[in-house]
Amino acid sequence: MSVTTDYQIIDQIEQEHRDLELHFEMVRRVFEQNEQQPHVIQSHLAELLALLKTHFASEEDGGYFVSAVEMAPHLAAIADALEREHEQLLKRLEGLGARLSIDTSEPIDIVSLRVEFVSFLDACAAHEHRENDLIQEAYLTDIGTGD
Ligand SMILES: [Fe+2]
Repeated sequence: MSVTTDYQIIDQIEQEHRDLELHFEMVRRVFEQNEQQPHVIQSHLAELLALLKTHFASEEDGGYFVSAVEMAPHLAAIADALEREHEQLLKRLEGLGARLSIDTSEPIDIVSLRVEFVSFLDACAAHEHRENDLIQEAYLTDIGTGD
């Protein structure tokens, strides 16, 4: 793989992660501003879920992790753990959305849901940062060795 392509891949992934973070921030504000309108929050959570599914699938199918591990086999365990986290993060977000859709006479505890959502966003941001680190380390190691 050429050096230019390596840097383009790093840029592309980091750009996607920056876009995701902007989206996280937008939904976080929606949550704060619509505590009386759970259906508005619910539709934004559903949209975020779809976006994350697409993002994770593109990382997995795009083979970034596979090529990263080919270039830097010592990162295999980290790459595996990051891929497993995709599934866990999606389930966590699905769980939050489901609590807004439960048809019950009980009031929804929107404040604690928001606290959990913010903690979910922190986990996602930390996950994406670890992916950036993995990709950078793998590709820059590869560039350094002149492959
Ligand atoms: Fe990612």
